[in-house]
Amino acid sequence: MSLKNLFEFDILDSTQDKAFELLKNYNEVVVIAQRMLKGRGRYGNKWISDIGGLYMSIGFKDKDIEFSKRLLIISSIAVLDILKDYEIEAKVKIPNDIYYQDKKLCGILIEIKDRDVVLGIGLNINQSHFPLEIKATSMFLIKNKNFNIKEIAQKIYNKLKILINADFKFVLESYNKQIKASLVEFEYNGNLIKGEILGISENFEIVLSSGKFDMFYIREVKEIL
Ligand code: BTN
Repeated sequence: MSLKNLFEFDILDSTQDKAFELLKNYNEVVVIAQRMLKGRGRYGNKWISDIGGLYMSIGFKDKDIEFSKRLLIISSIAVLDILKDYEIEAKVKIPNDIYYQDKKLCGILIEIKDRDVVLGIGLNINQSHFPLEIKATSMFLIKNKNFNIKEIAQKIYNKLKILINADFKFVLESYNKQIKASLVEFEYNGNLIKGEILGISENFEIVLSSGKFDMFYIREVKEIL
Protein backbone atom coordinates (compact mmCIF):
# COMPACT_ATOMS: atom_id res chain seq x y z
CA MET A 1 0.00 0.00 0.00
CA SER A 2 1.23 3.47 -0.70
CA LEU A 3 -0.22 6.93 -0.36
CA LYS A 4 -0.01 9.14 -3.43
CA ASN A 5 1.99 12.32 -2.80
CA LEU A 6 2.33 11.73 0.91
CA PHE A 7 3.99 14.46 2.97
CA GLU A 8 4.83 13.56 6.56
CA PHE A 9 5.86 15.95 9.31
CA ASP A 10 6.75 15.62 12.99
CA ILE A 11 5.04 18.90 13.72
CA LEU A 12 2.94 21.44 11.81
CA ASP A 13 0.68 24.33 12.70
CA SER A 14 -2.15 22.60 10.82
CA THR A 15 -2.11 19.86 8.20
CA GLN A 16 -4.98 21.74 6.53
CA ASP A 17 -2.83 24.79 5.74
CA LYS A 18 0.04 22.63 4.50
CA ALA A 19 -2.32 20.72 2.18
CA PHE A 20 -3.66 23.96 0.66
CA GLU A 21 -0.10 25.17 0.16
CA LEU A 22 0.95 21.94 -1.56
CA LEU A 23 -2.10 21.94 -3.82
CA LYS A 24 -0.48 24.84 -5.65
CA ASN A 25 1.93 22.27 -7.10
CA TYR A 26 0.06 18.96 -6.92
CA ASN A 27 -3.37 17.70 -7.96
CA GLU A 28 -3.77 15.55 -4.91
CA VAL A 29 -1.85 15.47 -1.64
CA VAL A 30 -1.92 13.67 1.68
CA VAL A 31 -0.40 15.48 4.66
CA ILE A 32 0.16 13.75 7.99
CA ALA A 33 1.67 15.29 11.12
CA GLN A 34 2.50 13.58 14.41
CA ARG A 35 1.21 16.64 16.22
CA MET A 36 -0.07 20.11 15.41
CA LEU A 37 0.30 23.44 17.17
CA LYS A 38 -2.80 25.07 15.69
CA GLY A 39 -5.01 22.10 14.84
CA ARG A 40 -8.46 23.37 13.97
CA GLY A 41 -11.92 21.94 14.11
CA ARG A 42 -15.24 23.10 12.73
CA TYR A 43 -16.91 26.35 13.80
CA GLY A 44 -13.53 27.89 14.68
CA ASN A 45 -12.88 25.35 17.42
CA LYS A 46 -9.40 24.27 18.40
CA TRP A 47 -8.52 20.62 17.77
CA ILE A 48 -6.28 19.19 20.48
CA SER A 49 -3.44 17.62 18.54
CA ASP A 50 -1.06 15.89 20.91
CA ILE A 51 1.08 12.96 19.93
CA GLY A 52 -0.83 9.67 19.54
CA GLY A 53 -3.63 10.82 17.26
CA LEU A 54 -3.97 10.71 13.49
CA TYR A 55 -3.87 14.19 11.94
CA MET A 56 -4.35 13.80 8.21
CA SER A 57 -5.43 16.20 5.49
CA ILE A 58 -6.22 15.03 1.99
CA GLY A 59 -6.23 17.73 -0.66
CA PHE A 60 -7.96 17.60 -4.04
CA LYS A 61 -7.41 20.22 -6.70
CA ASP A 62 -10.10 21.72 -8.87
CA LYS A 63 -13.29 20.08 -7.63
CA ASP A 64 -16.90 21.22 -7.77
CA ILE A 65 -19.23 21.80 -4.85
CA GLU A 66 -21.03 18.49 -5.46
CA PHE A 67 -17.72 16.68 -4.84
CA SER A 68 -17.30 18.44 -1.49
CA LYS A 69 -20.85 17.63 -0.43
CA ARG A 70 -20.37 13.96 -1.24
CA LEU A 71 -16.98 13.94 0.46
CA LEU A 72 -18.69 14.92 3.69
CA ILE A 73 -20.72 11.70 3.63
CA ILE A 74 -18.02 9.50 2.08
CA SER A 75 -15.34 10.46 4.62
CA SER A 76 -17.54 9.46 7.56
CA ILE A 77 -18.21 6.06 6.01
CA ALA A 78 -14.51 5.53 5.22
CA VAL A 79 -13.64 6.10 8.90
CA LEU A 80 -16.54 3.96 10.20
CA ASP A 81 -15.60 1.10 7.85
CA ILE A 82 -11.96 1.10 8.94
CA LEU A 83 -12.92 1.24 12.62
CA LYS A 84 -14.90 -1.96 12.00
CA ASP A 85 -11.64 -3.63 10.86
CA TYR A 86 -10.45 -2.99 14.43
CA GLU A 87 -13.75 -4.23 15.88
CA ILE A 88 -14.95 -0.80 16.88
CA GLU A 89 -18.62 -0.11 16.13
CA ALA A 90 -18.95 3.66 16.02
CA LYS A 91 -21.74 5.93 14.77
CA VAL A 92 -22.04 9.21 12.85
CA LYS A 93 -23.24 12.25 14.66
CA ILE A 94 -24.56 14.45 11.87
CA PRO A 95 -22.96 15.83 9.82
CA ASN A 96 -19.62 14.12 10.30
CA ASP A 97 -18.48 13.53 13.82
CA ILE A 98 -17.70 9.94 14.66
CA TYR A 99 -18.83 8.87 18.09
CA TYR A 100 -18.23 5.77 20.13
CA GLN A 101 -21.12 5.57 22.54
CA ASP A 102 -21.31 9.08 23.99
CA LYS A 103 -17.77 10.16 23.26
CA LYS A 104 -16.17 11.69 20.20
CA LEU A 105 -13.63 9.46 18.50
CA CYS A 106 -13.02 11.34 15.26
CA GLY A 107 -13.66 14.79 13.83
CA ILE A 108 -13.86 15.64 10.14
CA LEU A 109 -13.40 19.05 8.58
CA ILE A 110 -13.88 20.00 4.94
CA GLU A 111 -12.49 23.32 3.76
CA ILE A 112 -12.75 24.83 0.30
CA LYS A 113 -10.60 27.60 -1.22
CA ASP A 114 -11.50 28.54 -4.76
CA ARG A 115 -11.86 25.05 -6.25
CA ASP A 116 -9.36 23.32 -3.94
CA VAL A 117 -10.87 21.02 -1.36
CA VAL A 118 -9.08 19.78 1.77
CA LEU A 119 -10.54 17.03 3.90
CA GLY A 120 -9.13 16.90 7.42
CA ILE A 121 -9.45 13.81 9.58
CA GLY A 122 -8.56 13.86 13.26
CA LEU A 123 -8.87 10.37 14.69
CA ASN A 124 -8.07 9.67 18.33
CA ILE A 125 -5.90 6.57 18.26
CA ASN A 126 -3.32 6.08 21.00
CA GLN A 127 -4.10 8.97 23.36
CA SER A 128 -4.63 7.76 26.91
CA HIS A 129 -6.36 10.85 28.29
CA PHE A 130 -8.16 14.02 27.24
CA PRO A 131 -8.95 17.22 29.16
CA LEU A 132 -11.94 16.60 31.41
CA GLU A 133 -14.14 19.16 29.68
CA ILE A 134 -13.87 17.27 26.39
CA LYS A 135 -16.09 14.24 25.97
CA ALA A 136 -13.64 12.30 23.83
CA THR A 137 -12.32 8.77 23.58
CA SER A 138 -9.61 7.00 21.60
CA MET A 139 -9.09 3.58 20.05
CA PHE A 140 -6.60 2.93 22.87
CA LEU A 141 -9.19 3.72 25.54
CA ILE A 142 -11.77 1.52 23.80
CA LYS A 143 -9.54 -1.48 23.12
CA ASN A 144 -6.86 -1.08 25.77
CA LYS A 145 -4.00 -1.42 23.29
CA ASN A 146 -1.92 0.71 20.94
CA PHE A 147 -2.44 0.87 17.18
CA ASN A 148 -0.24 1.63 14.17
CA ILE A 149 -1.23 5.17 13.13
CA LYS A 150 0.32 4.99 9.67
CA GLU A 151 -1.44 1.73 8.88
CA ILE A 152 -4.79 3.25 9.86
CA ALA A 153 -4.06 6.35 7.74
CA GLN A 154 -3.36 4.17 4.71
CA LYS A 155 -6.49 2.14 5.22
CA ILE A 156 -8.68 5.23 5.52
CA TYR A 157 -7.12 6.75 2.42
CA ASN A 158 -7.57 3.56 0.39
CA LYS A 159 -11.17 3.21 1.52
CA LEU A 160 -11.84 6.85 0.67
CA LYS A 161 -10.54 6.35 -2.88
CA ILE A 162 -12.79 3.33 -3.34
CA LEU A 163 -15.84 5.15 -2.00
CA ILE A 164 -15.22 8.26 -4.13
CA ASN A 165 -15.58 6.03 -7.19
CA ALA A 166 -18.49 3.99 -5.81
CA ASP A 167 -22.19 4.61 -6.44
CA PHE A 168 -23.00 7.47 -4.06
CA LYS A 169 -26.52 6.12 -3.43
CA PHE A 170 -25.07 3.09 -1.64
CA VAL A 171 -22.64 5.19 0.39
CA LEU A 172 -25.50 7.43 1.52
CA GLU A 173 -27.64 4.41 2.40
CA SER A 174 -24.83 3.05 4.53
CA TYR A 175 -24.37 6.49 6.17
CA ASN A 176 -28.07 6.73 7.02
CA LYS A 177 -27.97 3.31 8.67
CA GLN A 178 -25.14 4.36 10.95
CA ILE A 179 -26.44 7.65 12.33
CA LYS A 180 -26.45 7.99 16.08
CA ALA A 181 -30.11 8.22 17.07
CA SER A 182 -30.73 11.60 18.62
CA LEU A 183 -33.00 14.51 19.16
CA VAL A 184 -31.38 17.64 17.78
CA GLU A 185 -31.89 21.35 17.46
CA PHE A 186 -30.41 23.97 15.16
CA GLU A 187 -31.08 27.39 13.79
CA TYR A 188 -32.50 27.61 10.28
CA ASN A 189 -33.48 30.91 8.65
CA GLY A 190 -33.74 32.47 12.08
CA ASN A 191 -36.01 29.73 13.44
CA LEU A 192 -35.12 27.15 16.06
CA ILE A 193 -35.81 23.70 14.63
CA LYS A 194 -36.07 20.58 16.79
CA GLY A 195 -36.64 16.99 15.81
CA GLU A 196 -35.48 13.42 15.71
CA ILE A 197 -32.81 12.77 13.08
CA LEU A 198 -33.95 10.36 10.35
CA GLY A 199 -31.10 10.78 7.86
CA ILE A 200 -29.63 12.79 5.00
CA SER A 201 -31.45 12.97 1.65
CA GLU A 202 -29.83 12.72 -1.79
CA ASN A 203 -30.19 16.51 -2.01
CA PHE A 204 -28.15 16.91 1.17
CA GLU A 205 -31.05 17.86 3.37
CA ILE A 206 -31.14 16.83 6.99
CA VAL A 207 -34.34 14.84 7.34
CA LEU A 208 -35.95 15.26 10.72
CA SER A 209 -39.23 13.97 12.07
CA SER A 210 -40.33 17.62 11.69
CA GLY A 211 -39.24 18.25 8.07
CA LYS A 212 -36.28 18.59 5.67
CA PHE A 213 -33.59 21.27 5.93
CA ASP A 214 -30.69 22.00 3.59
CA MET A 215 -27.65 20.90 5.59
CA PHE A 216 -25.42 23.62 4.15
CA TYR A 217 -27.50 26.36 5.73
CA ILE A 218 -27.14 24.83 9.16
CA ARG A 219 -24.22 25.97 11.23
CA GLU A 220 -24.26 23.66 14.18
CA VAL A 221 -26.46 20.69 14.95
CA LYS A 222 -26.85 20.39 18.72
CA GLU A 223 -27.81 17.12 20.28
CA ILE A 224 -30.46 17.65 22.95
CA LEU A 225 -31.07 14.03 23.87
C1 BTN B 1 -14.14 18.84 14.20
O1 BTN B 1 -14.69 17.87 14.71
O2 BTN B 1 -14.37 19.99 14.62
C2 BTN B 1 -13.18 18.65 13.06
C3 BTN B 1 -11.78 18.31 13.51
C4 BTN B 1 -10.81 18.13 12.38
C5 BTN B 1 -9.40 17.89 12.85
C6 BTN B 1 -8.48 17.55 11.72
S1 BTN B 1 -6.95 16.87 12.22
C7 BTN B 1 -6.31 16.99 10.62
C8 BTN B 1 -6.80 18.32 10.06
N1 BTN B 1 -5.90 19.40 10.41
C9 BTN B 1 -6.50 20.30 11.21
O3 BTN B 1 -5.96 21.34 11.64
N2 BTN B 1 -7.75 19.93 11.48
C10 BTN B 1 -8.10 18.70 10.78
